[in-house]
Amino acid sequence: MNEVSISPGGSLKGSVELPGDKSISHRSLLFNALAAEPARVSGLLVSEDVDATRRAVEALGAKVVLDGKDLIVHPPKDGLTEPRDIIDCGNSGTTIRLLTGVLASQPFFSVLSGDGSLRNRPMKRVTKPLKRMGAKFDGRENGDRPPLAVRGKTLKMTHHDLKIASAQVKSALLLAGLNSGVAVREPRQSRDHTERMLMRMGCTLRKDAEDWLVLIPPDELAPCDVQVPRDISAAAFFMVAANLVEGSEIFLENVGINPTRTGVLDVLTAMGADVQVYPKKLKGAEPVADILARHSPLVGTTISGSLTVRCLDELPILAIAAAFAEGETHIRDAAELRVKESDRIGRVCDGLRAMGIYVDERQDGMTITGGVPLGGAVIDASGDHRIAMAFAVAGQCVRNGLTICGADSIASSYPLFFAHLEALQQ
Ligand code: S3P
Repeated sequence: MNEVSISPGGSLKGSVELPGDKSISHRSLLFNALAAEPARVSGLLVSEDVDATRRAVEALGAKVVLDGKDLIVHPPKDGLTEPRDIIDCGNSGTTIRLLTGVLASQPFFSVLSGDGSLRNRPMKRVTKPLKRMGAKFDGRENGDRPPLAVRGKTLKMTHHDLKIASAQVKSALLLAGLNSGVAVREPRQSRDHTERMLMRMGCTLRKDAEDWLVLIPPDELAPCDVQVPRDISAAAFFMVAANLVEGSEIFLENVGINPTRTGVLDVLTAMGADVQVYPKKLKGAEPVADILARHSPLVGTTISGSLTVRCLDELPILAIAAAFAEGETHIRDAAELRVKESDRIGRVCDGLRAMGIYVDERQDGMTITGGVPLGGAVIDASGDHRIAMAFAVAGQCVRNGLTICGADSIASSYPLFFAHLEALQQ
């Protein structure tokens, strides 16, 4: 397993060319593979996770062709075709969940699998509602774990009242409803990239008075050219790093600030962080901004309810910020973190304890008492890119640094992360 030693390298100054947004990158490949005509995608994230989606749509008959710096997605002429082999989704939960929704209504057989981490992730949250629409599945552990076999069927319009706020589940159901129509209600608003893109492709999507999101599909999906904004989840590591390391100032350009994703900005502001956001004119369906982050002392805060959903992927790095802040930080309503690429609540709590920080672990989160974290800890980040990057930021701020095992996991979302971090060091 790849092991990396991180040590403080002085103040962090300069700008970072962040990678494209991961959620939007997956969607721009997958949705356009279902469209009637080719579409152009610029600024796509280059990473293992998005590569898994690209290979998947190619296995289903689409062609993805490089054109300068852009990609052109050519959908198969007569719709997706049966894949000749198992589709390997790698480490990517978004790939496997969204594909499950797409394949549920296709008139063929397919099998989805992935790496050790992905084969541990629950699938019933997607397959159970899809079965109500008429789809057929089988898989390990009574159908809950990949490899997952899909026997596509003609589906029927169904209402789904979801118990968890999950954009992957919601998106799988909306994609499954692209022929039949579908209605979904979630307990809290999760990220809405799917809704925005499907509307641009000709779907009618409306929320009614009782919060049901109703999809009425068009006869065929129009292609959707996408300019992928830079990823706010990647920006989060640098916003926190700038605030923690004395003398730092980091500029981040064209960051996606979709309001369903900006919980990290709200939390950092509540912690007293110096993070200036300069919104730009709307280009396409997703708002963007330039962000300037500078060193500032932080205080503890509370993250719960819909705020938790709006910063779910950023909670590991926010927990690092909390470890260096004055006072307590309470993270609640985050049980979903236990079923991500790893059990992120367990991993973060173990890592912070190894750094001498007092953490009260709860089923749905943690309370962190900020202090002076110690160096020398060894962090297990195997299979989980966000744990690796979060503790790499912590390693910038502790004497003697940290050792991160499994740091190669960062390739799933941000292969250039360490290069970008080093380039900022003065
Ligand atoms: C994602 C949704 C989120 C997030 C994941 C990407 C997406 O998961 O954690 O990294 O692109 O739809 P949920 O399904 O928990 O919302």
